[in-house]
Parts: sequence; structure tokens; C-alpha cells
Amino acid sequence: MNYPKFSVQWLQFIVMVMVLSISENSCSAGRFDIPRLSPTRGTLILEQPDIVSSASVSEDLRTFYYPQTLDHFNYKPESYSTFQQRYVMNFKYWGGANASAPILAYLGAEAPLDGDLAVIGFLNDNAIRFNALLVYIEHRYYGKSIPFGSREEAFKNASTLGYFNSVQAIADYAEIIMHIKKKLHAFYSPVIVIGGSYGGMLASWFRLKYPHVALGAVASSAPVLYFDKITPSGAYFSVVTKDFREVSETCYQTIRKSWSEIDKIASQPHGLSILSTKFKTCNPLTDSSELKNALTKMYASAAQYNQPPRYPVTVVCGGIDGSEKLDILSKIFAGIVAFRGNRSCYINQPTNQSETTVGWRWQTCSEMVIPIGIGNNTMFQPDPFDLNSFIQQCMSYYGVPPRPHWVTSYYGGHDIKLILQRFGSNIIFSNGLRDPYSRGGVLENISESILAVYTVNGSHCLDILPEKKTDPEWLIRQRSIVVKIIKRWMAKYYADLRLALIKQ
Ligand SMILES: *[C@@H]1O[C@H](CO)[C@@H](O)[C@H](O)[C@H]1NC(C)=O
Ligand SMILES: *[C@@H]1O[C@H](CO)[C@@H](O)[C@H](O)[C@H]1NC(C)=O
Repeated sequence: MNYPKFSVQWLQFIVMVMVLSISENSCSAGRFDIPRLSPTRGTLILEQPDIVSSASVSEDLRTFYYPQTLDHFNYKPESYSTFQQRYVMNFKYWGGANASAPILAYLGAEAPLDGDLAVIGFLNDNAIRFNALLVYIEHRYYGKSIPFGSREEAFKNASTLGYFNSVQAIADYAEIIMHIKKKLHAFYSPVIVIGGSYGGMLASWFRLKYPHVALGAVASSAPVLYFDKITPSGAYFSVVTKDFREVSETCYQTIRKSWSEIDKIASQPHGLSILSTKFKTCNPLTDSSELKNALTKMYASAAQYNQPPRYPVTVVCGGIDGSEKLDILSKIFAGIVAFRGNRSCYINQPTNQSETTVGWRWQTCSEMVIPIGIGNNTMFQPDPFDLNSFIQQCMSYYGVPPRPHWVTSYYGGHDIKLILQRFGSNIIFSNGLRDPYSRGGVLENISESILAVYTVNGSHCLDILPEKKTDPEWLIRQRSIVVKIIKRWMAKYYADLRLALIKQ
């Protein structure tokens, strides 16, 4: 097979270096929820009609279940119980086991797999290029992959939730991938694992822990360094601020001034009902923090998922700057309407908690402690991360405290360049710098094959979403760099394999 040579010049624009001490994470006293860590903001991608590839859920997908071991890490009798874990395969483009054709395996994250099948375009878009078998595996405790017989039982208390962690999850993935290879007699097919966001962290960690199962990993928007104070806790919201300021100075100024305006009105008699009317809230506000949290979330979400061609930050600022009314809060409201569209009400509409909300809360309260706070010098009111109050809150939910240092104990992260340049290989950390989580990502090449591929204008997981006609040139280039790197890994692997088989 002929593989294009890896172009170093191309990389100079985009491939960069990582910042050793990185980002900050969420969860402060008043603001418990960490900004979402999913490849897409809900249905955003599904609303977009101009997707080039047939990345929609196709009839070529076949669903399977694997009897997964509840606890991989000890030999107590109850650990041997199993649950059905879902995975999905697409054989359409696979070159087959005899050709040792590759396998692209998507590692599910904190959501049911169903949504990912449509939005993780990277697999569909590259299946032909690699003659690859596509595999998508659901994360335990989400979707149809629930231990203990039901969601209700599985989420009952810390005793049943205790098996819900990343270490068990990547062991699940290893077992399923090895099972598939065995079943298909595809012993020599190289596997590339792919993940976005939390799933991107899993992909990079998988390559480090299971090098005999995956040849390489694509970790898109994976904030592997947003743990244990490696990244300053204020980094996330300082990027949100920067994103808004770069789009419009007046928009940034309006938002910056709005918080004290809200406080001023809230402190007046009937202030909350004035605010409720002004912002057309679905229910009367019971506290001004309800409004402020919702606005903070909206700005964060717009920045994190600031995708072309719509560019939500530009949309919000278009509303704020374009408002006919002159007072600050009317402008802010115009920003909400621009972002959310015309609705009968805004802000505190009651919604059912999604599986992601419920599951991710446990994950952040046990293992994935991502300490995001708001520092000084942003467009928000300062709200530092307070580990003690975070721990208290988790205790009140689950009766067990989080382990904020476990991720770095088990996977590393401190001095990552120093460590990984002499251990590990074949990981791509891709990021878009407009994504606030990128500050917790790897933004510097670590070695010849642990590479950072980032774009200045990119957003969260943009590069693994389906290719579209409207994709800007810089995004097309980022994706093609990732493909070239993987082809280089495979060329080397196949050359080594030929030699190994001759010797046998
Ligand atoms: C794969 O190789 C085996 C053994 O050489 C052979 O029996 C089989 O027909 C081959 N399968 C395909 C699809 O070529
Ligand atoms: C969780 O619930 C089970 C079943 O009701 C019970 O046996 C167990 O003691 C509970 N564990 C905790 C930590 O409350």
C-alpha cells in the first residue's frame, strides 16, 4: 500500500506545543455543575442540513451486546456478575481480516451511544479512506449498557455506582475490542481508538494502558490536564471571555456590566419579579443566581460549541449589540433571544434531567474532579472553585467523598511532556483554541508520535464531527493532518507486521 508522506510543513501552522500548567474547572460553591463535556451541544449538529457524508445513522449499522464483567479488578464472587454492554459495528467498508484491514473504534463517553452514531462523523468519513471496520462502544452506566438490571438499581447508591468509573470503562473497551478481533479472526488488524471530550481522555488513556489492543488514539478536545491544579482553575472562563471580546468589545462590555445591574434590581422590592418579567422566565425567579447561572451557562456553551457556519458567540453578540433598546438588561435579553430563538419563555424551564446530567454528576463527584472556577479579570463575577464545598456537596448526594488526585495518580498528567516523551507513542491530541476546555488539553508536541494538532478558530470536538460543505479551510486541513498521521502509524505497523510474519 502507498501511504502519503507525512508533511511536517503543514503541521507548522497548526501543530503546537502544550502548556504545562493548564486549565481550571468548574464546580464552585454556587455553581455546582461543571460545563458539559460532550462532543455536541445537544441537537445542534442534527439541525444542520449541509452534512456532506452520509453520517446519519445508516442501515449498515449492526448492534451487538457483550456480557461484560461488572468488576475487572478483583476476584470476589460478586465481581463476576455481568451486564449487557452495547456496541455497534459497520462492516460496509472493511477490507477484511485476511488483509488485516484496520478497525476504527469510537469509545463512548458520558451519554447513550445513539446520539454518537450520527454525530461522530470521523468514523464514517474515514471508513473508505482506511477500508476500516467501524466499531462504536457504549460507556457503562449509559444508554442500554446498565449493570444491576435497571437504571434505578444501578443508580441507587454508592454501592451500586461504585463500579461506574473510567478505569472499569477502558477495561470494558479492551475486552470488547479483543472479543471482536477474535470473533472476526482479525488478530493483526490495527485498531485506532477515537474519542471526544471525556471520551477523548479515555482514548488517550486507553493507548497508554492498552498498547497491545490499540495501535493509536485520536483524542479530540480531551482536557487531560484539567485535574489536580495542573491547569489554573480560572482558565475555562478566561477563554469564554476572550472568545466574546474577540467577537465584539461592546458585547463583552455589556455582559461584564450586566451582573451588577442584575444584582441592583434584585435587591429592590419586587426586584425578582421585575427580572422575571424582563427575561420572560418560565417560572418566577426565586433567586437572582438562577438567572446569573443560566446566563453564565449560555455564554459558556456558546463559546465551547462555537462552530461554523453559525458561530453562536457571534449570534449572541449580534443580539446584544443589535438591540434597539439601550439599557443593559434589554440588550442581554436580546442576546438570549438571538441564541435560543423565539420562545414563549426562557431561563428556568423545567426539564427532565438527562442521563448525561445524572451520570456525569456521579463521575465528577467520584473520579473526574475538574476544578473549574471563575477568576478575576473575566467578563463574569469572580467565583473561585472551592474544593471543600464541592466535597461537602458530593457527600450530601452520595455519602462518599470525591478523590481529586486519583486521575493524576492513575493516568499521570503532571510534567506530561517530561514523562511521555520517553514513554508512550501514537496519540493525537486535537483541539480548537476557542474551546474553553482546550486550556486543559495537550497543546504541544510531546514526541514524534504524541502530537498536538490544533486550530486557532476551532471549537469543542469540531474535528471529529461530520464533514460538511461549509467547512472552512482550516478545519479541512486539521482533519487531513490527523488522517496523514494515522496513515503514517499504519504504514509503519504494516511494515513491521510483514517482517514479523516472514520471521515466523
Ligand atoms: C481468508 O483466508 C483464509 C485462509 O487462507 C481463506 O480460507 C478464506 O477464504 C479467506 N477469506 C477471504 C474473504 O478471502
Ligand atoms: C445500597 O442499597 C443496597 C440495597 O438496598 C443496600 O444493601 C446497601 O447497603 C446500600 N449501600 C449504601 C452505601 O447505602
